[in-house]
Amino acid sequence: MKFFIDTANLEQIRDAQNLGVLDGVTTNPSLMAKEGITGRENILKHYVAICDIVEGDVSAEVIATDYDGMVKEGEELAGLHKQIVVKLPMIKEGVKAAKYFSDKGIKTNVTLVFSAGQALLAAKAGATYVSPFIGRLDDVSTDGLNLIAEIRQIYNNYGFSTQILAASVRHTMHVIDCAKIGADVMTGPLSSIEGLLNHPLTDIGLAKFLADYKKGN
Ligand code: E4P
Repeated sequence: MKFFIDTANLEQIRDAQNLGVLDGVTTNPSLMAKEGITGRENILKHYVAICDIVEGDVSAEVIATDYDGMVKEGEELAGLHKQIVVKLPMIKEGVKAAKYFSDKGIKTNVTLVFSAGQALLAAKAGATYVSPFIGRLDDVSTDGLNLIAEIRQIYNNYGFSTQILAASVRHTMHVIDCAKIGADVMTGPLSSIEGLLNHPLTDIGLAKFLADYKKGN
């Protein structure tokens, strides 16, 4: 299972990278705005800065919602760095653009996916990644993890190579449940990754080992 961090915060990206378990980064316009990154030029520079920190795929989202605009913007983003994955919204024009980039061998991430049917379309269009938003489904009393399971079954049935990128992950149990279901990738905040470290018995056990060592030395 690949671990992506879902942020545009360079410090958090460095922290996750230094832990040695990071496989990539996802961003979106809201995450860029949260870091105060505005203006086309600054946004493009920020994507390159992220690519310079991590070794894996970095999703950069298009703003255009028409086919020609998405193609133009996606080509510009893909040209920035070899690690850039063009992130496209799950709308009709986005599916067409995913097919266009897939035919050109440019990686894509189809985002804002909330149903198995949308995930099927993304796979048919040859998307590299599909991003079902599990946390946002949970927010509206719908089982986000069930969507991951449905997509896993459908992709297995037909051998689709599109990777299931469980997005909108909010906490460690999302990560563990996605791993049990077989999501290829998860993307979440740093806390969802670092939280996996925690167990009180580890802390108690380590304290006892150190105390016992001190008694004899
Ligand atoms: C996915 O790529 C999105 O950036 C993200 O996971 C959205 O998460 P949120 O629902 O916590 O905003």
